[in-house]
Amino acid sequence: MAVQINPSILSADFARLAEEAKAVQGADWLHVDVMDNHFVPNLTLGVPVVESLARATDTPLDCHLMIEDPDRWAPLYVEAGASSVTFHVEAAAAPVRLAREIRAKGARASMALKPATPIEPYEDLLPELDMLLIMTVEPGFGGQAFLDIMLPKIRRTRELIGKHGLQLWLQVDGGVSATTIERCAEAGADVFVAGSAVYGAKDPADAVRALRAQAET
Ligand code: DX5
Ligand code: ZN
Repeated sequence: MAVQINPSILSADFARLAEEAKAVQGADWLHVDVMDNHFVPNLTLGVPVVESLARATDTPLDCHLMIEDPDRWAPLYVEAGASSVTFHVEAAAAPVRLAREIRAKGARASMALKPATPIEPYEDLLPELDMLLIMTVEPGFGGQAFLDIMLPKIRRTRELIGKHGLQLWLQVDGGVSATTIERCAEAGADVFVAGSAVYGAKDPADAVRALRAQAET
């Protein structure tokens, strides 16, 4: 299971996004948090910014859509240049159709679960996905404390992935840092989003290397 570290530009300087993308050389993906002030109580960026960012960096974009009506919007983020698009199952009207559409357009399809959303009802959807995102904070803001109570859900999801013989990646997002990443890795996560732990560090690229080393132990 290869470890991947995805810095979240939510904690970067939005006036210098191209430079901030370059500041995390060595990262596997750039995590882009799209918020619409409806699905979550915060507002960030949309399709035009993703288009510009895709042109400005060679690092593939991992777009996390915290928005209503992802059935309508997710395909537009693939067209804007995202290589992976994550929609929230709580917001999707037709998650299977949407995952298939994202894949058909050439991106990796990923589904996210808020902390109170269980994995069990979605077991049969797993083969339709390239990644599952388990939120380890309530979505909406960076810099929140990691929810330890999500560890059993990570463990159960890893078991279900094994049971079905699937290759999908298991991403965790929220409060991932030097003090929590080992617990996530031990529970079975292999893709780690980190915002404040990377962009709040003196040397973001160094923080990415350190997090990777910790997740690999
Ligand atoms: C929160 C976002 C996260 C956020 C994580 O809703 O989905 O991606 O940037 O920030 P940290 O790592 O600071 O918790
Ligand atoms: Zn995110």
